[in-house]
Amino acid sequence: MKFFIDTANLDEIAEAKSWGCLAGVTTNPSLYAKTGGKLEDFEPHMLKIAELCEGLPVSAESTAMTVEGMVEEGRRLSALAPNIVVKLPMCEAGLAACRALANEGVRVNMTLVFSATQALLAANAGARYISPFVGRYDDIALDGLSQLADVVACIKNYDWSDKNPDGRVEIIAASIRTPNHVTQAALMGADIATVPMKALKKCLHHPLTDAGLASFAADWARVTSN
Ligand code: E4P
Repeated sequence: MKFFIDTANLDEIAEAKSWGCLAGVTTNPSLYAKTGGKLEDFEPHMLKIAELCEGLPVSAESTAMTVEGMVEEGRRLSALAPNIVVKLPMCEAGLAACRALANEGVRVNMTLVFSATQALLAANAGARYISPFVGRYDDIALDGLSQLADVVACIKNYDWSDKNPDGRVEIIAASIRTPNHVTQAALMGADIATVPMKALKKCLHHPLTDAGLASFAADWARVTSN
């Protein structure tokens, strides 16, 4: 399973990229708002992320509410850079805009997906990526991972070669809160987990690793002091 980072923060993206294990970036309107960016700076900011992550897919979300608005904004966003993926919401307008943009060769990431039926509709409408949300289920005491398992099972056993520009659909486990979400997503066959920096650090660190590193350093200090 590949790792995307779920942030619009350039410093976080640069740090995660420096680890050599980053395969892409996802953003959303809330993550952009967290950067304190202004409306007029949104597209230049998405371009900065795309340039920082040249060759890696960077999802930039449309905030339009109509088919026409989503298509127009999607064309603008995808024209910013070849690695920009247009994120659209799972609704009637999002499906129609997804089909229109996919027919123009634009890669679409269908977001705010909470069921296998939504995922199937999105894949048929030409979505290149589908983002089932896990954590927001857990936030309301439901089981997001079981929904993710349904999405993976339904999407993985079908040939989507004639539905979108790349002829394949990848599932991005989204709304990730914990390392267990990452592990379970990988075990059930999600293609990607998009993970916020806080959870990425929890995936990276382990108390036994940290203790082992400290004891190696202490023992080596004895060697160098002899
Ligand atoms: C990613 O594409 C989603 O927008 C993101 O993972 C949502 O995460 P949240 O549920 O923590 O807002």
